[in-house]
Amino acid sequence: MKRYTIIAANWKMHLRADEARQLADAIAVCRPPEHTRIILAPPFVYLYEMVQRTASHPHIHISAQNCSQFSQGAYTGEVAAFMLQSIGCKYVIIGHSERRKYFGETDAIVYEKMLRAIENDLTPILCCGEPLDVRQQNQHREYVFHQLQNTLFHLDERQLTDIILAYEPIWAIGTGIAASTEQIQEMHHFIRQSIAEHYGSAIAQQCYILYGGSVKPQNATEILSLEDVDGALVGGASLQADSFCAIVRASAAHRKD
Ligand code: PGA
Repeated sequence: MKRYTIIAANWKMHLRADEARQLADAIAVCRPPEHTRIILAPPFVYLYEMVQRTASHPHIHISAQNCSQFSQGAYTGEVAAFMLQSIGCKYVIIGHSERRKYFGETDAIVYEKMLRAIENDLTPILCCGEPLDVRQQNQHREYVFHQLQNTLFHLDERQLTDIILAYEPIWAIGTGIAASTEQIQEMHHFIRQSIAEHYGSAIAQQCYILYGGSVKPQNATEILSLEDVDGALVGGASLQADSFCAIVRASAAHRKD
């Protein structure tokens, strides 16, 4: 049994500073089920303030949405993993499909970023997931396996124990249409099996696999009750306290023990 259910908010490139403060304060007072951990991923400029603001709420942790693949140096405009660690950030989203699509992040870059995160005691939230045409050709398992082979499977056992995976089918992100519960469970099971084949089933059982893609209050309970789903990565519905808190409350459905 895992210790937590993780509900993560990816605010992407939204919210003014005052709106971010209000939203964080409203989320801080929504009462999560006992074993739920909330992760907020605001834009870089709000990270330091969000770490301070949520410090008295031990169930809330702060994540960056990205970090540089370089350790440090003359890389204008980039933010290094050690900087995130130094302000109290605990997590970093790596390889989100929007980074891959709009900023040319390849698996090789994603892997480097993941290493920088691990070297600096940040927990990577590693995203994977297939585009629509790949799903239509029924190649989604091979596609995601390949993504993991180029990134996750380079890690050793010890490194793997502190990784969160997020399966996010690209066709479900921001579209309002989540994958079906059958599709989600099938892929999560497939990912866990693939990890088990590389690292053994004990490690695979410990691995957190979140689902992302149009999670909302209306579908959160059924998604979070699925056997191999350990939480959710929420975009659009995390921008309103009401809808995000409803998803947080729905995480009670995840306790299967
Ligand atoms: P969505 O985004 O919930 O708006 O579909 C999820 C994500 O991109 O992480």
